[in-house]
Amino acid sequence: MSVNVAIDGPAGAGKSTVAKGAAAKLGYIYVDTGALYRAVGVYALRNGIDTKNADGVSSLLPEISVELKFIDGVQHVLLNGDDVSVEIRTPDASMAASNVSAIPAVRAFLFDLQRDIAKKNNCLMDGRDIGTVVLPNAQVKIFLTADPEERAMRRYKELKEKGSDVKYEDVLDDLIKRDYQDSHREIAPLKPAEDSVVFNTTGYTLEESVAKVISIIEEKTNG
Ligand code: DC
Repeated sequence: MSVNVAIDGPAGAGKSTVAKGAAAKLGYIYVDTGALYRAVGVYALRNGIDTKNADGVSSLLPEISVELKFIDGVQHVLLNGDDVSVEIRTPDASMAASNVSAIPAVRAFLFDLQRDIAKKNNCLMDGRDIGTVVLPNAQVKIFLTADPEERAMRRYKELKEKGSDVKYEDVLDDLIKRDYQDSHREIAPLKPAEDSVVFNTTGYTLEESVAKVISIIEEKTNG
């Protein structure tokens, strides 16, 4: 049986960086499920569909194929065969992803894909509902969080490094809005699973966070 580690938490908590680092050390694959919602959001944006319009977005699903490919352990997202791994990272794609992720048909559409990957691979899977809905039997569940200002500052620096001219206040506003939407939606809202270990990374370096996550995983899987 494969080892599954669910890592959930709000936007910008460092889930992807920390999970990637821990996965590399453990020899597991790292699966970023937000990328799937982003791909659906990008498809809706490309087609001029309001990403909050459940009927409009749902009607697009039969035209969409989303796949995850792992090349040298790095995840690539294919939208109808095209690699959209870069296009899905814009602030517009973030908000579109949050919007479409509140639509039950979208969650149902992406569910099997996530389950199949976890069944076949030792993996660290990050998202919002991995420990609560997608992999309720995961051997390890971690809820990774950090204070909003620290999360916004990390996102801001990331976007700046990529050449974007965003303002810190806008990143913080978007993040608070997305947290609210993600944790107040009716379906699969962001919340710690009852059997998760909550880890607040505020003030921790990346290396410290990776070490702590690995120690949580080792403790749960060796014990
Ligand atoms: O992790 P991320 O920021 O790339 O996720 C983008 C959006 O997708 C996020 O605002 C909420 C949604 N999402 C979700 O609802 N469930 C998941 N498992 C992963 C992401």
